[in-house]
Amino acid sequence: MFLGFDIGSSSVKVSLVKAETGECVATAFHPKKEMEIVAQHPGWAEQDPKMWWKYTKEALAEVLHSAQIDASQIKAIGISYQMHGLVCVDANKEVIRPAIIWCDSRAAEIGKQAFEHIGAERCLSHMFNSPGNFTASKLKWIKEHEPQNYERIHKIMLPGDYIAMRLTGEIQTTISGLSEGILWDFKQSKVSDIVLAEYGIDSSLIASVTDTFGIQAPIQSSVAEELGLSKEVKVTYRAGDQPNNALSLAVLEPGEIATTAGTSGVVYGVSDALQYDPKSRVNTFAHVNHSPDVVRLGVLLCINGTGILNSWVRRYIGQSQFSYEQMNAEAERIPIGSSSLSVLPFGNGAERIFEDKVVDSHFMGIDFGQHTTAHMFRAIQEGIVFSFMYGMEIMQEIGIQPHVIKAGTANMFLSPIFRETLANVSGASIELYNTDGSIGAARGAAVGYGYYASFNEAFVGLHQTMCVKPNLYKVQETKEAYEKWKQNLLQIIINQ
Ligand code: XUL
Repeated sequence: MFLGFDIGSSSVKVSLVKAETGECVATAFHPKKEMEIVAQHPGWAEQDPKMWWKYTKEALAEVLHSAQIDASQIKAIGISYQMHGLVCVDANKEVIRPAIIWCDSRAAEIGKQAFEHIGAERCLSHMFNSPGNFTASKLKWIKEHEPQNYERIHKIMLPGDYIAMRLTGEIQTTISGLSEGILWDFKQSKVSDIVLAEYGIDSSLIASVTDTFGIQAPIQSSVAEELGLSKEVKVTYRAGDQPNNALSLAVLEPGEIATTAGTSGVVYGVSDALQYDPKSRVNTFAHVNHSPDVVRLGVLLCINGTGILNSWVRRYIGQSQFSYEQMNAEAERIPIGSSSLSVLPFGNGAERIFEDKVVDSHFMGIDFGQHTTAHMFRAIQEGIVFSFMYGMEIMQEIGIQPHVIKAGTANMFLSPIFRETLANVSGASIELYNTDGSIGAARGAAVGYGYYASFNEAFVGLHQTMCVKPNLYKVQETKEAYEKWKQNLLQIIINQ
């Protein structure tokens, strides 16, 4: 049996998977209320890495309790994690300051200047992206603004590398992880000297590189004892939550597309060609199965304001009186286009599709005589899907054409309006599967452990729960609603 840990921004989920059948034996998430994201200033977002570790332990304890198995059956752990964060530890492996997480926008300007200074052509041909608002730029921010903290840094890590360190005592990262921090030079197949030199960062701060799949390190005996696991357990897989989501859906080969709609929303297309957006509005990172010999890249479109908008509206507009199912049922009563109420979902920091501009969320065209909370519930879902579509048009510009989009049966894909609107506006079939990030991470652990002879075997038990095809009677109307929404968006952007 294999464990998958999914370190999200709102909770940590742990699943135990039987490798023979792919069956999820037990699953739990902690905390039960959403984890706090601290924003000391507008556009900032921080979390305490020790909090991730605490909730990981709690969720694991619940899983072990409900599975009621002999712990010696558990062979390895796989880790999926919120991407692009920055965790800094000192020489004693103690966290120096809270992690600056993926949706924190403070480093956007630093990344922009670095892109200009390095030179667009040079930067893109080596790293496939602008340094943007990613991990390396966040570290440069600390160097500039908190020199006393910077001085103490022994190593930097991504959130999943930190959890692996707590388990194993080893400080490691992966090529895929370095690429998501814009610290990987694809052309030279090594840590990016270009970015390190631009930011004046010493290469000793970068963790050593381990394979995404493989025996990364055994867990420490003291930790095994504390967690109730065998001392033989090893960490055998780690990946960012988006490449991991693709893995969980068996999206590994060029042309295949995965998506998620949790706190953030992502459309992720696998490619074997050097495809990247010259403006870094969508990003190209190393996929889980990428190696310098076999090119497998993930072209990633991210909308920061996805499920977080839905939960904000549930809390503050719905006054927490509606469950998500009730919100969906209310929204079903409203026609396509939400009677011209448009919602822009961009209230969770700088959005990459707008070159790291903070566009904010907007509710546009509210008519007091007509619109109700039900209209709002529909309009937010449409607004999120339309922002996916806007980003997919950018993906199309660089050759990623979605025909089939795969997702886990979770989060916003549980909403009929959400999945149908996505199918109708994009023309793609939306396939849902019985998986999630923690199950994917457990499958990844089994692959890394060498349990399966090939990737194909690793997807035993993965099956489709639903396929939503574009509805010919609704396509036209949905596309018209999208065009209207886009006009509203362009007006906001022009006026900013
Ligand atoms: C992807 C991204 C987000 C986070 C959320 O590039 O930034 O989806 O990974 O955890």
